[in-house]
Amino acid sequence: MSVIAFVNQKGGCAKSTTAVHFAYWLAHRKHKVLLVDADAQRSSSIWIESLEVKIPCEVAQTPDELSEQIPEFANDYTYVVVDGPAGISDAMKSIVFKTDLAIIPCQPTGVDLRSASDAIRLIRQAQDQREGTPKAAVFLSRAVKGTRLKDEAIALLGNIGVPILDTVIHQRQAIADTFGQAATVWELLGKASIEAAEEFDQLFREIMEMLP
Ligand SMILES: Nc1ncnc2c1ncn2[C@@H]1O[C@H](COP(=O)(O)OP(=O)(O)OP(=O)(O)O)[C@@H](O)[C@H]1O
Ligand SMILES: [Mg+2]
Repeated sequence: MSVIAFVNQKGGCAKSTTAVHFAYWLAHRKHKVLLVDADAQRSSSIWIESLEVKIPCEVAQTPDELSEQIPEFANDYTYVVVDGPAGISDAMKSIVFKTDLAIIPCQPTGVDLRSASDAIRLIRQAQDQREGTPKAAVFLSRAVKGTRLKDEAIALLGNIGVPILDTVIHQRQAIADTFGQAATVWELLGKASIEAAEEFDQLFREIMEMLP
């Protein structure tokens, strides 16, 4: 019913990490959820298939596949979570034109924030043609503790009309370890993974509040 896509042409900003964790979080709450891997590297589909909990996953990568299949998936699942590709591409355009909510993970550096504006421009084009859909928000990912973040990000992103979510996901080894451990932070032990899990939990509650 609802399609939520993690998009940003910038590589390494945590699209796949967040998409897998969000799909897991929804499945854990007994929702019918599908992960769509739209990235040629296929890291999220490999990752989700490696988890102990089985979560449905589809690979769809060409612009036509994405345009045609996302609405079909949305008919069959309560939530469709799309892991977007790196690079500005027609595939990313197809996703933005089919999603209900576009979430842009962005590392809080000047270069990354500026490149997020390319994704935001594409989202604005879709919103113009789709009467305001998709709703969109940026969140700061992989942030190093102790740096001034949100104010700086707001200053750099300017008045773009896309909100920045309150939750910041910090750079943590526990998160970097999840893919290699065939796990999510909820399955790893230790204080760092509990803290990471709390951040994801807060982020996902914020994202859910944005859904129509
Ligand atoms: N909060 C975090 N703390 C530490 N490492 C992180 C965090 N989030 C993501 N990473 C790591 O950063 C790298 C990039 O993350 P990820 O693959 O999710 O980004 P991506 O946006 O999907 O990249 P791509 O555009 O290449 O698909 C991975 O090695 C991942 O483990
Ligand atoms: Mg990825």
